Parts: sequence; C-alpha cells; structure tokens
Amino acid sequence: MSDVYSASGSRYDRMPYRRSGRSGLLLPALSLGFWHNFGDNGNPENMRAMMRTAFDLGITQFDLANNYGPVYGRAEENAGRILAMDFAPYRDELVITSKAGYDMWPGPYGDHGSRKYLLASCDASLRRLGLDYVDIFYHHRPDPDTPLEETIEALLQIVRSGKAIYAGISNYPADRAREAVRIAGEIRLPLVVNQLRYNMIDRKIEEDGTIRACAEGGLGIAVFSPLAQGLLTGKYLDGIPAGSRMARDGRYLHRDALTDKKAAAIRRLDHIAQERGQKLTDMALAWLLGKPEVTTVIIGASRPEQITENARCLENLRFSDEELKEIDAAAAFLKD
Ligand SMILES: NC(=O)c1ccc[n+]([C@@H]2O[C@H](COP(=O)([O-])OP(=O)(O)OC[C@H]3O[C@@H](n4cnc5c(N)ncnc54)[C@H](OP(=O)(O)O)[C@@H]3O)[C@@H](O)[C@H]2O)c1
Repeated sequence: MSDVYSASGSRYDRMPYRRSGRSGLLLPALSLGFWHNFGDNGNPENMRAMMRTAFDLGITQFDLANNYGPVYGRAEENAGRILAMDFAPYRDELVITSKAGYDMWPGPYGDHGSRKYLLASCDASLRRLGLDYVDIFYHHRPDPDTPLEETIEALLQIVRSGKAIYAGISNYPADRAREAVRIAGEIRLPLVVNQLRYNMIDRKIEEDGTIRACAEGGLGIAVFSPLAQGLLTGKYLDGIPAGSRMARDGRYLHRDALTDKKAAAIRRLDHIAQERGQKLTDMALAWLLGKPEVTTVIIGASRPEQITENARCLENLRFSDEELKEIDAAAAFLKD
C-alpha cells in the first residue's frame, strides 16, 4: 500500500446521501462501523486499507464509540492514527462519530448517562481520535436511573463547547426517543439521529413503534448490524468459516445464534435474492435502504473487499411488492 493516500476522484459518483431526519446533515447511504476489526486483534494495514476503500466509495461516515476495541478505546486510537496519516486533507468531507453509554472505566463515573461521564468520555474520545471535534456525539444506550434531562443537557454542553456538531441517541426505544426529542426541542439541541439494530430478520423497531417515533420526532435512523453480524451473508449456512466473526468472537455472535429455524429463513431469503439476480448480502442492505425512515446503514467489515462487495447493493435498490411480501413472510416464519 502506498504511504501517500490520494482519495479517488470518482468518490462521489455513486453514493446517495440522505438527510438525517429534519436536520441539514447529509449522511451516506452506507457508513463504515469500527466495532470489530479495529482493535488489538486487527491488522493496522488492513484497517488503513478499509478506511481508504470506504472513503473512495463515497462512504463519508466513520462510526466509532469509546468502548470499541479490544481493548476499550483502541479503535479510536487506531482510527485517529490513520486519520492523521491519510485523511487530514479530507476532514471536512468526513462525518466522524463517537458514543458513550456503556461501561468504559472502573468506578461510578465510567458508565451510563450522567453529565460527569459523558463530558469526560467525549474529551477522552477526542484525545484518542486526535480531533478537535466529532460530527455526531451519541448517548449509546438509555439509562433508566439518570434523569433524561441531565443526559440531553450534557449533549448540549458538548455541542455548545464545539466538541460535537450534532448529537445522537442510540438504542432508545419509542417512548425514550420521544422524550429525548421533546427535551432537545426545549433546549434547542440539534438531536439528529437514533442508532438502532434493524435487519430483515430483526424487526423489533418496526414492531414496537420505534421507527414511527423517530419519523414523527424528526430523527434520522442509523441502522446497525444490517447483516445480523454476518448471518445475512449466508456464510454460516454450511458451517462456521475459519476467521469469521462467529469463529473468532463467540461473545458477540455465538454459535447458538444460528438456529435451524433461522437457517431456514435465511435460505428462503437467499432464494428471493437469487430470483432478483442479487446476492443475499446486497439484498439485505438494499432492503434497508428502501425504507424512507432509514438514513444510513452502518456496515461492519473485516476486509476491504467486503466493503467493495457491499457497495454493490446500490446497483439494485428497487423491490416489487411481491418481493417485499416474500421477504416479510420469510421473517414472519421465524416467529411461527
Ligand atoms: N449503537 C450500538 O449499540 C451499536 C451496536 C452494534 C454495532 N454498532 C455499529 O454498527 C456497525 C456495524 O455493525 P455490525 O458489525 O454488527 O454489522 P454487520 O454488517 O451486520 O456485520 C458485519 C460483519 O459481517 C461480515 N461481513 C460483512 N460483509 C460481508 C461480506 N460481503 N461477505 C462476508 N461477510 C461479510 C463481517 O464479519 P466477518 O468477516 O468477521 O465474519 C463483518 O464484520 C458497528 O461496526 C458499529 O459501528 C452500533
């Protein structure tokens, strides 16, 4: 790999950009997530190649969090090093996010949703990333024990101090999201997005009203685990490939995740994809991008080739009513 990176001149030719909720912020249809493969167990050259590949495809959003690793914080450090080497001329073309909300450091102030935790964690993330500001700073998960006013006001302080441009929430279900939007409106916080798990076989946010709450509140939706951590590539249907997430990291994707029923549903979905002349992976991403409430789909990758492959989903984003019904039926079969 060349030591000097010059971004592809065609990087904006294919990627659609969508406004996040009612904000002015445009996010790429596909974003790159740093949850896995950017920690101590990753290869630095591979990380650099993934970031370059993504940006060359128009993937302008890099999604991080304080605790992405292993060890906690390492993904931000590795991303920060590569941002300094390759992306300094492109800082204004990038949306870089971070989050706080899960356990990060020992003691009572390194977890949940207090002002004390969020302010300290944002400063620590900026130090690791080597940045003056992130574009979106998220509260990573709801905290039932901290008044929501305190959490949302902490996000406002972070934005007002110039350490983030926009604020986000993540894993907030309908009622908490509505409440967050109400408070943000009162204090004029630019709360632009809720980051949520959603894919063809995990419809929870459709069913519990969270999508509707976000749409009504003017929040964009950033989808995570769009491929159900790899299950929706079909790669686990004939065993567990060496080097895959399930083989490497049973903590997040345990081998029990692929039940016989899930495998049958995935086979049905694979058949629908084949009929469309598309790979299952591409159909899974395209299906999400067909939802008007979805702003961006955050993909994870262990190799640059996966990012290039996944971007091919953009070539066919159209679904017939019949195909959509069949996809819904395959997902519903999981519940029978
Ligand atoms: N806010 C939150 O609470 C939260 C929670 C989870 C994730 N996130 C964000 O969302 C991002 C994406 O989540 P995710 O990693 O679960 O997404 P995902 O897209 O569902 O799964 C990504 C994994 O699938 C496999 N894969 C992807 N493309 C493939 C291809 N073309 N062929 C074969 N395998 C392929 C790779 O795993 P292997 O190659 O290693 O098998 C890859 O690491 C995270 O990085 C993070 O930024 C946020």
